[in-house]
Amino acid sequence: MRLAGKVAVVTGAAGAIGSAIVRRFVREGAFVALLDNTRQGLAHVVDALSNRSQVDDRMLPLYCNVENPVEVDAAFSAIDDRWNQVDIAVANAGIAVSRPFLDMDLELWDRILAINLTGVMLVCQRAAQRMVPRGSGVLITMSSTNGMVAERDLAAYNASKAGVLLLTKTMAIELAPFGIRANSLNPGMIDTGLAQRSGMDPSTLRDYKNKIPMQRFGSPDEVAAVTAFLASDDAAFVTGTGIVIDGGQLAEE
Ligand SMILES: NC(=O)c1ccc[n+]([C@@H]2O[C@H](COP(=O)([O-])OP(=O)(O)OC[C@H]3O[C@@H](n4cnc5c(N)ncnc54)[C@H](O)[C@@H]3O)[C@@H](O)[C@H]2O)c1
Repeated sequence: MRLAGKVAVVTGAAGAIGSAIVRRFVREGAFVALLDNTRQGLAHVVDALSNRSQVDDRMLPLYCNVENPVEVDAAFSAIDDRWNQVDIAVANAGIAVSRPFLDMDLELWDRILAINLTGVMLVCQRAAQRMVPRGSGVLITMSSTNGMVAERDLAAYNASKAGVLLLTKTMAIELAPFGIRANSLNPGMIDTGLAQRSGMDPSTLRDYKNKIPMQRFGSPDEVAAVTAFLASDDAAFVTGTGIVIDGGQLAEE
């Protein structure tokens, strides 16, 4: 149990990758605050875990839109009330919407940047403010291979994920003196339905698989395993970087 007694905040906790991270963290002994903007989704994740073992008191589901500073503050107040410490924050909530650049409207652009980039900043800042007095902590942000190479029709998503990468490096250098590490996850295609929901058609998805040397998509559990590594002391000297989890895709291009 690499995270025994640690308090972790996971955003997008009701989603495919977020819920896998919650499962993994609970298994590693952490107390976990689950933040998401779907109450039903949160209840589903907590119920599924609570049925299997007696872990309900180790989870705190909190409704929260990560792009809204008032809601983020309210969630962190609830965490303060319950545990009065934050050791790990995983800023994972994000959306992807496929739209050709020439058709991009400001409303969509703003929404994607607000959730995927501003939301990450808000959550990491609130978490870091609680870590500084304790002199330790770990921030993990959800970027993407799309934060490193561009994919067509995803201008706002690509820009948001590139922003997350540089935000994370900046947090790493500013927060290192306080004993806080900050790293990104850069998954390639993970089998979660996000790509289908973003509007990618089935033939594009098939072509995509062929571009991956391992010839398959990753699983949420495989992302969660890397997240647990970064959150643990096994990664004690790892900060300011991104870990690519893509079956070799970027290596070949
Ligand atoms: N699936 C992939 O292939 C892939 C690849 C690279 C990166 N990612 C990133 O991983 C993260 C999780 O993706 P996923 O595939 O699990 O998607 P998902 O849609 O299953 O999960 C995303 C979760 O974020 C929540 N969310 C959305 N807007 C929110 C908001 N405003 N406030 C709080 N919560 C909000 C959703 O309710 C959902 O539960 C995203 O940031 C995504 O960009 C995914």
